[in-house]
Amino acid sequence: MQDTIIVKGQVLSFRANPFDGDPAGAAQLDEALTLEGGRIGGRGSFASLRARHPQARVVDHGERVVMAGFVDAHAHYPQTAMIASWGKRLIDWLNSYTFPEEMRFRDPAYAAEIAARYLDLTAAHGTTTVCSYCTIHPESVDAFFSEAQARGQRVVAGKTCMDRNAPEGLRDTAQSGYDDSRALLGRWHGVDRLSYAITPRFSPTSSPEQLEAMGALWAENPDCLMQTHLSEQTDEIAWVKELFPGARDYLDTYEAHGLLGPNGVYGHSIHLEARERDRLAETGAALVHCPTSNTFIGSGLFDMAGLMAEGQRVGLATDTGGGSSFSMLRTMAAAYEIAQLRGTALHPAQLLWLATAGSARALRMDDRIGNAAPGMEADLVVLDLASTPAIAQRAHRAGDIWEALFPTIMMGDDRAVAEVRIAGRAVA
Ligand code: GUN
Ligand code: ZN
Repeated sequence: MQDTIIVKGQVLSFRANPFDGDPAGAAQLDEALTLEGGRIGGRGSFASLRARHPQARVVDHGERVVMAGFVDAHAHYPQTAMIASWGKRLIDWLNSYTFPEEMRFRDPAYAAEIAARYLDLTAAHGTTTVCSYCTIHPESVDAFFSEAQARGQRVVAGKTCMDRNAPEGLRDTAQSGYDDSRALLGRWHGVDRLSYAITPRFSPTSSPEQLEAMGALWAENPDCLMQTHLSEQTDEIAWVKELFPGARDYLDTYEAHGLLGPNGVYGHSIHLEARERDRLAETGAALVHCPTSNTFIGSGLFDMAGLMAEGQRVGLATDTGGGSSFSMLRTMAAAYEIAQLRGTALHPAQLLWLATAGSARALRMDDRIGNAAPGMEADLVVLDLASTPAIAQRAHRAGDIWEALFPTIMMGDDRAVAEVRIAGRAVA
């Protein structure tokens, strides 16, 4: 049991969804919070917390912002070592760079090395929870969960299933994909802070039989998340139409096989048709915006304002290594830029909410993580709002907390991350 700690700073939390009304009004600022046994105890004035916990150790962050750690709702940890690979669009990028790298994960030692490297890098960038794809190799799932478990980290992951349109050595079958996923789910789901996500990569690399098997596994384990990719690039969508001539649209290739539901998490979701948007909203499925990936691979402009106005459940993610960064700060900046290109300026409170509570909500974990509020798990990031001379000189002029935060959102990187806590323990 950890001793109680009082963390002092500009403690930022959310009492409402900043897309629902006045964005700034959805946020709450306090002087301090307490960490008690891996959870957030109370928050409020320093004097009141001090009076309640006279023996507690105080960690004073001064003007720094103390908030929930970032939640990256869609990433591929096996793509860590090939991030920023030049010059291809989605399908060529997968074939040229991604599949050869993912092939290496049949070696458990390599999988363990990259899992540790990935979790070190993301923690250094202030990310405390990720929802990651693994590779088709069960060893890649064991490596990732083992490493996260040793760190006491809340993560979601699953074996990526592919039984066609992938190279020899990177394909399973409908049956073996089902069997391996089921065994991994049984081994890891609900153990400590780990959750299993059923993970068919995307319709082009799964036969209808495999999608059907994944749907059956999900029906047997409905509390698991199911993650996949949806409508990322127009060439991909055209290919899906060829592969599934009977489908009404891309989403229907999942829906027809039992792969649409409230615990479904659909990465990218850029070029959606009206029926797809209706069905996603009706089922309460989650859409995950991956802005650095969408510009890097040249995919398109996610309709944040329109989808939020429809009440869609939206999270934010790096999509490492199609995404060009491990940083959720950089990811918020890219989300801001894409929204600007579509005519909307996202408020800093909306961006920070998306990177924490919004992503936690997309992963159905917003009752546990994503907000620095009493009772929540104590996963925190502390941001230095003057981490470089360029940021400091702009923040110095700020009239309020949002103006002070925005230069760090737009220009910040791991240098802005002053401290990271996972379940109350400082890890970076
Ligand atoms: N679609 C299917 N697989 C992938 C992947 O690994 N990255 C991205 N960005 N899109 C995908
Ligand atoms: Zn992806």
